[in-house]
Amino acid sequence: MEAFVLVLTLLAIKAKSVYAEPEPLLVGMTLVKNASAQGALCLDGSLPAYHFHKGFGSGVHNWLLQFEGGGWCNDIESCLERSKTRRGSSRYMSKLEVFSGILSNNKSLNPDFYNWNRVKLRYCDGASFAGNSKFDNGTSLLYFRGQRIWQAIILDLLPQGLETAEKALLSGCSAGGLASFLHCNNFTEYLPPNTTVKCLGDAGFFLDVQDISGNHTMRAFYNSVVSMQGVTQSLDANCLQNSSSPTQCFFPQYALGYIRTPFFILNTAYDVYQFHNGLVPPLSDPKGHWNHCKFNPAACNTSQINVLQGFRQDMLAALKSFLQYSAKGGAFINSCFAHCQSESQDTWYAVDAPRVYNKTIAEAVGDWYFERSITKVIDCPYPCDTTCHNLIPPPPPPLPPAPAPALPPPPAPPVHAQRTQNLGV
Ligand SMILES: *[C@@H]1O[C@H](CO)[C@@H](O)[C@H](O)[C@H]1NC(C)=O
Ligand SMILES: *[C@@H]1O[C@H](CO)[C@@H](O)[C@H](O)[C@H]1NC(C)=O
Ligand SMILES: *[C@@H]1O[C@H](CO)[C@@H](O)[C@H](O)[C@H]1NC(C)=O
Ligand SMILES: *[C@@H]1O[C@H](CO)[C@@H](O)[C@H](O)[C@H]1NC(C)=O
Ligand SMILES: *[C@@H]1O[C@H](CO)[C@@H](O)[C@H](O)[C@H]1NC(C)=O
Ligand SMILES: *[C@@H]1O[C@H](CO)[C@@H](O)[C@H](O)[C@H]1NC(C)=O
Ligand SMILES: *[C@@H]1O[C@H](CO)[C@@H](O)[C@H](O)[C@H]1NC(C)=O
Ligand SMILES: *[C@@H]1O[C@H](CO)[C@@H](O)[C@H](O)[C@H]1NC(C)=O
Ligand SMILES: *[C@@H]1O[C@H](CO)[C@@H](O)[C@H](O)[C@H]1NC(C)=O
Repeated sequence: MEAFVLVLTLLAIKAKSVYAEPEPLLVGMTLVKNASAQGALCLDGSLPAYHFHKGFGSGVHNWLLQFEGGGWCNDIESCLERSKTRRGSSRYMSKLEVFSGILSNNKSLNPDFYNWNRVKLRYCDGASFAGNSKFDNGTSLLYFRGQRIWQAIILDLLPQGLETAEKALLSGCSAGGLASFLHCNNFTEYLPPNTTVKCLGDAGFFLDVQDISGNHTMRAFYNSVVSMQGVTQSLDANCLQNSSSPTQCFFPQYALGYIRTPFFILNTAYDVYQFHNGLVPPLSDPKGHWNHCKFNPAACNTSQINVLQGFRQDMLAALKSFLQYSAKGGAFINSCFAHCQSESQDTWYAVDAPRVYNKTIAEAVGDWYFERSITKVIDCPYPCDTTCHNLIPPPPPPLPPAPAPALPPPPAPPVHAQRTQNLGV
C-alpha cells in the first residue's frame, strides 16, 4: 500500500487531491479459523483472511464486501511462485490494510458507505475466488480453493450480522472486480429475500478481444486459468449451457446477462491493465513500438489512438444491451488511463476526482445504490476528459532474451507490475 501510494504520487499526471487523508484508517487482519475444515486454503495451504471494520450509526445493519484484486496465475510455475507471496499466502500478507475510498469510515471522504460494516476479502487463490481443485505431484502441492474461500468467508460473516443485513453491496477491483461478477448471484442467495443486495465491479470488465497481432491473448490466458484451477463448476450454469466454452462465462461480457442482482459497472474505457496486457501484450509488439504510447497517452500516434478508440467501442458494444435494458443497472465508463478507481481516495471522492457530467464515482455509485437518480454515464472519448487521474504502471524492466512465456501476464495494481506471469492488479 505504501508503494502504491508512492506510485500514485509519482505517476499521477494530475496533481494530488486536496483531500489528503488525515489519518489513514488501518484495519487488522482476521484469519478464517474454520476454513481448513472446509478445505478453504490459500495456494500454499495457509488460512484465508479478511479485514473487517464494524459499521456504526445508521449503517450498522448494512454490509459492504470488497474482493481484493491482484491478477491471476495460469500455470503451475506461476502459481508456485505466487504461493510464496502475499497474493498466494496469508503468511506474507500485510496484517494491517488501509481502508480508503469506498472503504473509508469518514463521511466527508465516503458519503454513502462510511458507516457500513466494511470487509476486505484478501485474495490468495489466483483465480478470482473461483477455483476448486488441487495440484499434487508428490513434491509440489498447490491449493486452488478460491470458491471455497469465498464460501468460508461468507459463512464466517453471516453470524456476525451479515445474515440480517438490511442493505448489502458486493464489490471488488480488477481480479476482485471479476470476482464480483462471478459471485453476485451466489452472494444474493445467502441473504434474506428482503435484503437489498447489489454488486459492483471496478476495473473487472475484462474484454474478450483480439490483441493487435490478432491473437486472443486474454481468452487463451483465461482458458488456462479456468482449466488448471477447476473454475467451471463455479460458473453460472445457465451461461455454461449456452456457451461454446466455459471460459466464455468467465468473461463478464457473457456472464453479465445471467446476473439477476442489480449491478454497477465501473471501468475506464482505456483500462491500462487491459491495454498493456490484453490489447497490446508484449508478445504482440516485440519491437516495442507501443512503449511510448503505453506509458504516456500523449505520445500515441494517430493509428495507435485509433486502436484505443476501437477498444473503447468494443467495450461499449459489449455493454450495449446492459446499458439499454438493465433497468436497475448502473455504469460509469470514463475515458481515463487507469485501473481501479474505487479504492483510492483521489479517484473515488475528492474535489479534483474524476468526474463525468460533473459527478464523481462516489456520487454515481451512491446515486445508483440508493436509487436517487439514473446512473449510467459514458464519458466522451479521449482526450476530452480533463478530470482524469491517469494511473499508469511504470515500464517493466527489459525482458531477458530467454524464450518468451506462452501466456500473457495477469494484472496487479500499477506498482506491482512485474515482468511476466505475475503482473497483476
Ligand atoms: C475526514 O476527512 C476530512 C477531509 O479530509 C478531514 O478534514 C477530517 O479531519 C476527517 N475526519 C476524521 C475523523 O478523520
Ligand atoms: C466449521 O466447518 C465445518 C465443516 O463445514 C462445519 O461443520 C462447522 O459447523 C463449522 N464450524 C463453525 C464454528 O462454523
Ligand atoms: C512437480 O511439479 C513441479 C512444478 O512443476 C516440478 O518442479 C517437479 O519436478 C514435479 N515433481 C515431480 C515428481 O514430477
Ligand atoms: C426481513 O424479514 C425479517 C423476518 O420477517 C425481519 O425480521 C427483518 O427485519 C426484515 N428485514 C428487513 C431489512 O426488512
Ligand atoms: C453458492 O455457490 C456454491 C457453489 O456453487 C454452492 O455450493 C452454494 O450452495 C451456493 N450458495 C447458495 C446460498 O446458493
Ligand atoms: C446465448 O448466447 C447467444 C450468443 O452467444 C446470445 O445471443 C443469447 O442471448 C444467449 N441466450 C441466452 C438465453 O442467454
Ligand atoms: C499468437 O498465438 C499463437 C498460438 O498461441 C502463438 O504461437 C504466437 O506466438 C502468438 N503470437 C503473438 C504475436 O503473440
Ligand atoms: C504509429 O506507430 C506505429 C508503431 O510504431 C507505426 O506502425 C505506424 O505506422 C504509426 N502510424 C502513424 C500514422 O504514424
Ligand atoms: C460540479 O459539482 C460541484 C460540486 O460537486 C459544484 O460545486 C459545481 O458547481 C458543479 N459544476 C457544474 C458546472 O455544474
